[in-house]
Amino acid sequence: MVIVLNKQASIANQFLYEMRHKDIQKDRAKFRHNLKKLGQVMAYEVSKSLQFKKTKVNTPLSTTEVDLINESPVLVTILRASMPFFEGFIDYFDQADAAFVGAYREEGKDISVKFEYLASPNLTDRPLIIIDPMLATGKSLVTVYNKLLEKGSPSSIHFVSAVAAPEGIEYIANRLNKKYTVWTAALDEKLNSMSYIVPGLGDAGDLCYGQKE
Ligand code: URA
Repeated sequence: MVIVLNKQASIANQFLYEMRHKDIQKDRAKFRHNLKKLGQVMAYEVSKSLQFKKTKVNTPLSTTEVDLINESPVLVTILRASMPFFEGFIDYFDQADAAFVGAYREEGKDISVKFEYLASPNLTDRPLIIIDPMLATGKSLVTVYNKLLEKGSPSSIHFVSAVAAPEGIEYIANRLNKKYTVWTAALDEKLNSMSYIVPGLGDAGDLCYGQKE
């Protein structure tokens, strides 16, 4: 299942507009802040798909019931562009466990993904939320997902991005034989010859933290 949030007008569109805008995005602090706010909004959306349990609460005046999340999600951040997006998620899922992954794309004729680092809790029977702002080729997400399976079999699988390309969504669909949900704020037109998303926003990692050598 693919859920595209900007099909409905919401404040998230303002964050994404500023992230895409070629002048506004130059303000690095603002870019990171918008990515974090988008993470908060998307965490709220993803939270609606989790399991809830009626829980009694005593107020100073009486007693009532609230629906509380009854699962323990694991939030996965892929260094480096995912960091501010992940911060937005962990602001909302503020007691969640987190996994950290070092993976990067090696640019050449065919983009390949180098995997270097994984620190993760056990994932058995827990919702797995993999956070990556740019779902471009889908190769990093599939590589990271396969590696994470060494840590157990999750109860549900969520890939969350700010901007996705149809090619990446198709790549995931052709390689995962489990049920999963892609949540994206926007589904763009295509990838260019360098596998950047068009219209996209550019290099999210560079916009957050500067160019790599
Ligand atoms: N990563 C980015 O930061 N931007 C893209 O367009 C694709 C991958």
